[in-house]
Amino acid sequence: MRKQIVAGNWKMNKNIQESVQLADEIAKKVKDLPLKNTRVIIAPTFVNLSEVVNATKDSVVEVAAQNMHQAKNGAFTGEISAEMLTSLGLEVVILGHSERREYFGETDALLAEKVNTALENNLEVIFCFGEVLEDRKSGNHFAVVESQIKNGLFHLQANKWGSIVLAYEPVWAIGTGETASPEQAQEMHAFIRKIVADKYNAQVAADVSILYGGSVKPSNAKEIFSKEDVDGGLIGGAALNADDFMALVKSF
Ligand code: PGA
Repeated sequence: MRKQIVAGNWKMNKNIQESVQLADEIAKKVKDLPLKNTRVIIAPTFVNLSEVVNATKDSVVEVAAQNMHQAKNGAFTGEISAEMLTSLGLEVVILGHSERREYFGETDALLAEKVNTALENNLEVIFCFGEVLEDRKSGNHFAVVESQIKNGLFHLQANKWGSIVLAYEPVWAIGTGETASPEQAQEMHAFIRKIVADKYNAQVAADVSILYGGSVKPSNAKEIFSKEDVDGGLIGGAALNADDFMALVKSF
């Protein structure tokens, strides 16, 4: 059975003290919950990963990186390799976030390379994609999402899909306060599951967790997460506060 996941993407927020405090609070609060089929993941900025791993070491809370470089190692000033992440004990990396695509020029081809490097290093990938507002308005959103998934992931063999989590994040809903309706999310998630089934098989499609991201907050999470093909959320703003984040974890 596929897992439900609440993943907090802290982006470029929280200094070291704030990161440790937030991680600590989340780890404490998660302890009291009967999390049968739910994974809780937090993704602080690179420089705080080590301390956050330490703060959550006795907890079920998992720590992820927000990005990584595609090369094994070498002369790439300012970059972080997969092996640097795994050497900290990390098992998960977020790739393809729309902010990486938009502000840092990450293309589908580059992301396919990053996915390969992550998997070669035994990192699970939370792979993000989603359409911009013009695509949604012109009815092009299904084609855009399909091409992002196809170009980033469909070169993989079926047996690699156990290490892939999909995150549908319509760009127009990220940090804007505007959310896709539960029906819009379900419609897209069902479409995504279908194209995965068509490319691979029904089992791969049934097993992959598909997260929704874009202004998920305590007031709307329950309704969105209750949709059949929505297996949780990738959370930005609401992940920066322990109470809000925990409310999301409890929304299942
Ligand atoms: P948001 O961000 O929840 O602040 O909209 C979501 C994301 O970028 O993953």
